[in-house]
Amino acid sequence: MAEQIKVLLTEEEVDKRIREIGEQISRDYEGRSVHLICVLKGGSFFMCELAKRISVPVSLDFMSVSSYGSDTKSSGIVKIVKDLDESIKGKDVIVVEDIVDSGRTLSYLLETLGAREPKSLRLCTLLDKPDRRVVNVKVDYTCFNIPDKFVVGYGLDYNQKYRNLAYIGAVEFN
Ligand code: IMP
Ligand code: MG
Repeated sequence: MAEQIKVLLTEEEVDKRIREIGEQISRDYEGRSVHLICVLKGGSFFMCELAKRISVPVSLDFMSVSSYGSDTKSSGIVKIVKDLDESIKGKDVIVVEDIVDSGRTLSYLLETLGAREPKSLRLCTLLDKPDRRVVNVKVDYTCFNIPDKFVVGYGLDYNQKYRNLAYIGAVEFN
């Protein structure tokens, strides 16, 4: 099935908003440093841009998760495919995600990371689809709320394609 990509958020809009969120984080964490945790692969493009816009000291780590399968997905159990390299104990942690959809992945991840005793734990997402939420998740920083559409670009994929688009596009199936 052929698909078409329609621009939802331009490169300029995305870049401008990431700068704003970076400035907000810099203000909120003044006098401290932040430890950003990127959820691979989707969060990687966003994290790089965001990290450049944060003026307090930043350290980075990466994590990769996947759903355990279709039947366990509804239970919110996700598998850690790649765990963090460093301990987060005592650190001011911000989890950086591409999109919060049902909230299942983040709900599990925040619970798991919270048990590792960070000093603080917040969530920053590029996109949020609030209409799709199944599990309640507290999102601290959101760049954009978007309608219930399947989107790609800026790290987000459709069958591993389109992650490298510099803008956010909605997938339309013909
Ligand atoms: P959740 O557990 O349902 O919140 O799933 C979040 C994950 O689903 C994201 O990290 C993405 O990998 C994927 N996802 C959800 N919506 C989209 C979308 O519109 N485009 C691409 N990936 C998506
Ligand atoms: Mg993701």
